[in-house]
Amino acid sequence: MSQTTAVYASFRSIGAYVPEKILSNADLEKMVDTTDEWILKRTGISERHIAGENEVTSDMGAKACEKAIERSGIAKEEIDLVLCATVTPDYFNMPSTACIISDKLGIRDVQAFDISAACSGFVYLLSVAKAFIESGMKKNVLIVGAEKFSSIVDYTDRSTCILFGDGAGAAMICATDKKEEGFIDLHASADGSYSDFLVTPAPGTVNPVSQRVIDEGLNFVQMKGNETFKLAVKTLTKDVKEILAKNEINSEDIPHFIPHQANYRIIKAVGDALKMNKEQVVLTVGKYGNTSAASIPMAINDIWESGRLQNGELMLLDTFGGGLTWASALLPFAGKAVEK
Ligand code: UT7
Repeated sequence: MSQTTAVYASFRSIGAYVPEKILSNADLEKMVDTTDEWILKRTGISERHIAGENEVTSDMGAKACEKAIERSGIAKEEIDLVLCATVTPDYFNMPSTACIISDKLGIRDVQAFDISAACSGFVYLLSVAKAFIESGMKKNVLIVGAEKFSSIVDYTDRSTCILFGDGAGAAMICATDKKEEGFIDLHASADGSYSDFLVTPAPGTVNPVSQRVIDEGLNFVQMKGNETFKLAVKTLTKDVKEILAKNEINSEDIPHFIPHQANYRIIKAVGDALKMNKEQVVLTVGKYGNTSAASIPMAINDIWESGRLQNGELMLLDTFGGGLTWASALLPFAGKAVEK
């Protein structure tokens, strides 16, 4: 009987792109009936970054990917799968944003496709990359969460326009035979019976492009904010508690808890339920807002660039979003720390 060596998926590098233009709470005060005080108190957000008019999702995604590739030490020619998570693709039908990003990076003749899991997109991508690598089908998987959320936000709707921002975050996920470098656990789930909690009604087969779509603003994101908030706190807390218990890891042994950055109050409630201190919980929502599939990799990039994320340190990821979808992951950072 032939013996094969076990292969594990490892998180090798991180990169992100943040567009230049800032939309502050003061700017929003001039656009809708809101105040800096209300936004800060209810969400923890001070500002968010907005892509340029001609800057599209794949532009931001490709820039994040360039950094992740360079920091991984893997040559572009060695990448054998490109995956993008986005709900604001360059084109709603085809081609996929992953195909366009691959082209912008000069990666040719390699499988590339998008997934749609809203804010849970990046952790969903980790599960896909893990499956491809651990089955032996691929070795070096480039994953990217990229969103131009401003393209589906109605800037006359104060309940949503204060929340979202644009950006991208990417990572290289690579095969390794070292078990200690591999993902420890990952859990991803969904419940479509809550699909009306977060929805962009058009364009799609339910509401193809028409004058009615434009007149009724069906191309903009709609959210049942308060209901989503309550379910997010409950689900995220349950999910992280379960993954920690299953792997017999105490929350105090997690140096980096990196939750989806939707609302400071959600993050605080989950962090408190886990009895985590401020140093453990990564917070970027204040400066980026909610960037959907890009939020977790942008947050990981922040702690990497500031030198907080070191080789071998454990990351606990936890996310929740439209679908509804949710996911959590427990994994070590298997790349090099930032060179200072
Ligand atoms: O990324 C995917 C997951 N997304 C989330 O998890 C987002 C979850 N939801 C939230 O973050 C919060 O629900 C919001 C920040 C969107 C809203 O906060 P809330 O504490 O749930 O407020 P609410 O929707 O219950 O509204 C309270 C009041 C309402 O006024 P009345 O009816 O009490 O008079 C709203 O009209 O606040 C009003 N309001 C605002 N006031 C000033 C809503 N938006 C604004 C605003 N400025 N921007």
